Amino acid sequence: MKELIKKLTETFSPSGREEKIREVILEEIKPYVDEYEVDKLGNLIVHKKGNGKKILLDAHMDEVGFVVTYIDDKGFIRIEPVGGVNPANLLYKRVQFESGAVGTVGIEGETVKQLQENYKNITFDNIYVDIGAKSREEAEKRVKRGMFGGYTTNLEVLGDRLMAKSMDDRIGCAVVIQTLKELDSSPNDVYAVFAIQEEVGLIGATVSAFGIEPDMGIAVDVTGWGDTPKGMKRLAITLGDGPAIKVKDRYMIASKSVVDLLVKTAEENEIPYQMEVLLYGGTDGAMIQKTKKGIPTGVVSIPCRYVHTQSEIVDYNDVLNAVKLLKFTLKKEMK
Ligand code: CO
Ligand code: ZN
Repeated sequence: MKELIKKLTETFSPSGREEKIREVILEEIKPYVDEYEVDKLGNLIVHKKGNGKKILLDAHMDEVGFVVTYIDDKGFIRIEPVGGVNPANLLYKRVQFESGAVGTVGIEGETVKQLQENYKNITFDNIYVDIGAKSREEAEKRVKRGMFGGYTTNLEVLGDRLMAKSMDDRIGCAVVIQTLKELDSSPNDVYAVFAIQEEVGLIGATVSAFGIEPDMGIAVDVTGWGDTPKGMKRLAITLGDGPAIKVKDRYMIASKSVVDLLVKTAEENEIPYQMEVLLYGGTDGAMIQKTKKGIPTGVVSIPCRYVHTQSEIVDYNDVLNAVKLLKFTLKKEMK
């Protein structure tokens, strides 16, 4: 599965520009599903037919990034975030654009004092992207206003841990793909959505859940962590302790019936798990839950450090156990 994770995380597809990642996912999953569809907004919806209840799995395929707002006379580029990007994460890091152009991020400062002050308060107003161009004209041959950009890093295997950009939420995509690959049969009618534009407002999940109208939804996404030096004390999530079953985040309280089902399935099959109460953020699950007359919805989360940076870290065992948990859940007859 590591090869798959490498392929997915090294593909560059920020929110609104999911064409490339959708192609990669489709190629992987096509042989394992009965039918697929790309909807009007670009969600990839796959279907594994069954006679029972309609179960929806959802993982978002976009990643955070930025968009070009302005190119100055000297060819330096100003940007605006797409999704939750901390400008401090970008400074002096290698970035890429849709065109394939690469560059790095610098910061303004006309005096030492001003530079020190800017370092303390890095914003999108005082940083710029340098693609090595000497003029606007030269820059515009590679990058244009309105073009999207983002991180560019390769997957690194660090023992049991994997580090890459866009683990949020390509690791969720990998888990859903692998689950469908391993699911030889199910009493349920299984749909999976690889959703667009989660990072800018859960857009893809909103419309796809409406169209499918499932009996139950399970979003698969990353969650935070509390297990690093002076890590967030109230966030007791530990890499390697198993996939996390969401109880609550800022956008939703997971449906108790789904939480109970996931916990029961984990215990019956001796799959390690941890309960998740996330202090910030939300997932596609929040929108699936509010669809039509209401869809009981839960979330299986992969603990992930440094979310929304170019070096997000997950534990491979959590990933494998998340696949197991979903597979056994889908094999259950739902009432
Ligand atoms: Co995210
Ligand atoms: Zn996510």
